[in-house]
Amino acid sequence: MHHKIITRVSMVLAVLCLFVAAAFAWLVSPAQVALATSSDATSAGAEDMLFVKYCGGCHTQDEMLAILRKDDDLAGNADSMQQFLKRHGKSSDEQDAQIVAALKELAADR
Ligand code: HEC
Repeated sequence: MHHKIITRVSMVLAVLCLFVAAAFAWLVSPAQVALATSSDATSAGAEDMLFVKYCGGCHTQDEMLAILRKDDDLAGNADSMQQFLKRHGKSSDEQDAQIVAALKELAADR
């Protein structure tokens, strides 16, 4: 039966995806955590850990700060970043808000 084969294949693929995701998290997180704790002693709050967890595998904090500081429009840039994050990354909207708020604070503080 075709149905069964399709179910099998999608289950195998799903399991494979989980393995790859777990391997990725396992490879990435220790280095990112070490980086976050050593690089900036003033920004070790819970929101920064959210950034490390949800974004740190693909982005650096400095990269995000540069985007927020663009055109000297911190509030506008933070708003558009938060909009963008609704369709980007794996964090919830609430976590997005916390991440952007923490980045905004860092971007303002220089
Ligand atoms: C799996 C990898 C991955 C993760 C996780 C991820 N991103 Fe991205 N992000 C990308 C890629 C790829 C792009 C598009 C390429 C680029 O512009 O850097 C991108 C683009 C962006 C951009 C637009 C960059 C620009 O130049 O305008 C922002 C802002 C951004 N990400 C923020 C975040 C934030 C905040 C998080 C955490 C909630 C996050 N990303 C999580 C891969 C990722």
